[in-house]
Amino acid sequence: MSSQSKRFYVTTPIYYVNDIPHIGHAYTTVAADILARHHRLHGHNVFFLTGTDEHGQKVQKAAAERGKSPKEHADIMVQNFRQLWLKLNISNDAFIRTTDERHVKTVQELMQALYDRGEIEKRSYSGWYCVPDERFWMDKDIIDGKCPDCGRAVEHIREENYFFLMSKYQARLMSHIEDNADYILPETRRNEVLGFLRNNALGDLCISRPKQRLSWGIPLPFDDNFVTYVWFDALVNYYSATRYLAPQTCEWWPASHHLVGKDILTTHAVYWSTMLMALGLPLPENIFAHGWWTIEGKKMSKSLGNVVDPGEMADKYGADALRYFLFREVPFGLDGMFSEDALIRRINTDLANDLGNLLSRFLTMADKYFGGNIDLPQADAALHNEVALRCGEACIHALKDDLWDRLQFSIILETIWNIISDANNHIARKEPWKLAKSDPEELKRVMSDLWHSLRISALLLYPFMPATAEKIWGQLGLKSLTEEVRQSWGENNAIFDWDWKPGYAVKVSKGEQLFPRIEKAEGKEQKEEKKKEKPKVSEQAAKELIGIEDFAKVELKVGIILSAERVEKSEKLIKLKVDTGEERQIVAGIGKSYDPEQLVGKKIVVVANLKPAKLMGVESQGMLLAASDEDGTLSIISPERDVHQGGRVK
Ligand code: MSP
Repeated sequence: MSSQSKRFYVTTPIYYVNDIPHIGHAYTTVAADILARHHRLHGHNVFFLTGTDEHGQKVQKAAAERGKSPKEHADIMVQNFRQLWLKLNISNDAFIRTTDERHVKTVQELMQALYDRGEIEKRSYSGWYCVPDERFWMDKDIIDGKCPDCGRAVEHIREENYFFLMSKYQARLMSHIEDNADYILPETRRNEVLGFLRNNALGDLCISRPKQRLSWGIPLPFDDNFVTYVWFDALVNYYSATRYLAPQTCEWWPASHHLVGKDILTTHAVYWSTMLMALGLPLPENIFAHGWWTIEGKKMSKSLGNVVDPGEMADKYGADALRYFLFREVPFGLDGMFSEDALIRRINTDLANDLGNLLSRFLTMADKYFGGNIDLPQADAALHNEVALRCGEACIHALKDDLWDRLQFSIILETIWNIISDANNHIARKEPWKLAKSDPEELKRVMSDLWHSLRISALLLYPFMPATAEKIWGQLGLKSLTEEVRQSWGENNAIFDWDWKPGYAVKVSKGEQLFPRIEKAEGKEQKEEKKKEKPKVSEQAAKELIGIEDFAKVELKVGIILSAERVEKSEKLIKLKVDTGEERQIVAGIGKSYDPEQLVGKKIVVVANLKPAKLMGVESQGMLLAASDEDGTLSIISPERDVHQGGRVK
């Protein structure tokens, strides 16, 4: 775990005030919140910034249509974001608006500095301009007089403008990305940016707009006839906030993570990086580009009327359930399909069945057998205690810096669920209701095991589901989770230990149910599923069936993935080092469904006695099992509980 004084600065994109916040905006902001809460919990010095992007043509136009000034319009629209962040329990330390006076000043200072250094030049320029997108296109780009991006008509414009001499930084940018493996994540996105830079000559960047065409922007400090290009203004927010919105306790620049959607990676990885180089400022430690949520595979858009309102989802299902779903359902970095059915499924299985039931069964038993009084064991109770040992291992995994630094949220959540499942299995194995009659001492031990499992799960869940974690903590008879954590600083994270508070007695009490099951009128999906006539097994021709002796020939084993990398020149193949009791290399065709970095640490099922074969020249000593969805997406088969590597699958 990292040192206590670590400085951690995380940002979200600043959102256009013209849009009503949708699930995509909520996605990045909750991701940043998860990181910020995790780092605060570990005593790090955190600054978490979000905000709004308020200049530009679209805002100017929308405001005019409403008969308002652009600033009045922005003042109204910005409330939508502020309110949503309150509803979703977002703990941002600051909220920047590009209309803030201090931001405007910083943009002008930086522009002037670049101009003085000869990094900005005035040039005459002509091209096809797309008004709604506020960008120029070349002859070769436009399609039938229309913008290649949005399909709307473009205008031919000749004008003078200022250019940032971006092209001269191409080589430096490439070496920076090559030398810093974590600068752009996930790795697939890093490769895309590198591929682009290797195959294209970077142009210079037009960073101004003539005032007569756009007045709603920041005036150039060296030429009052122009305003800044909206991206130049927007990107600077990350730096300007450290000058006037961050507590002046340390130097916050550079940022630890810029979280962005994949569509705005180029502006960050190329424009922003080269701007910083020209300014002589350090580059951020990481730019992470996440995937997009689609609706039944289609892009969310106002015209399709399928935009998901995160506020409505939070009202209906609770902010924590939504937060959990977004980060458990899809590995951060990949695209995902959003559906209310999938959200309900997660609530009913993971949250109501696994987590909610565990807590409520524990509390009911605590009340019935001990009047709610739980005695915690003395120090060293974790020794020889299998549940404690497994929980300890899972805890170390879920807190690993590497997983957090690479934003592998879904793996972290899976690991927490191993603790929850293990605790549920502990109840099933130990049958406390029998122990109540036969072995009261053992019953006490089992109950304190469950108490610790729940407590540690709550701690680990806190960044993802802060309100739920606090509720669990309260029902376990403890005061405030964040307060307790604060008090344990300097104790080397003792709060995550089984021996925390040895010999202590707590009074637990049942509170409100965490996640009531959602009984839903049959959704479209289920109805369609039912409608399909399924063939009966008995109807399969007997010759297609195999005997048990044939199946017994296949040796299936549990393995853990030690390392993963793509096979060169292949989109599909990933080369894995797997420990199945013995180390082996497996080449798996899962590259379209997984990024290598998501795979490390995963438990899988391997066909262990398959003859080695070569795939694209790389030897594969076995095969892993994965299920295929209708659209061809593969999902790796893992044991439901944390089975040791080498374990037989029967
Ligand atoms: N104002 C710029 C960002 C400037 S940052 C210096 C902007 N704003 S935005 O409001 O249009 O979009 C913000 C973010 O929402 C982007 O990161 C984008 O990827 C994200 N999303 C928009 N639709 C999305 C989905 N359907 N799914 C996930 N995220 C998506 O761009």
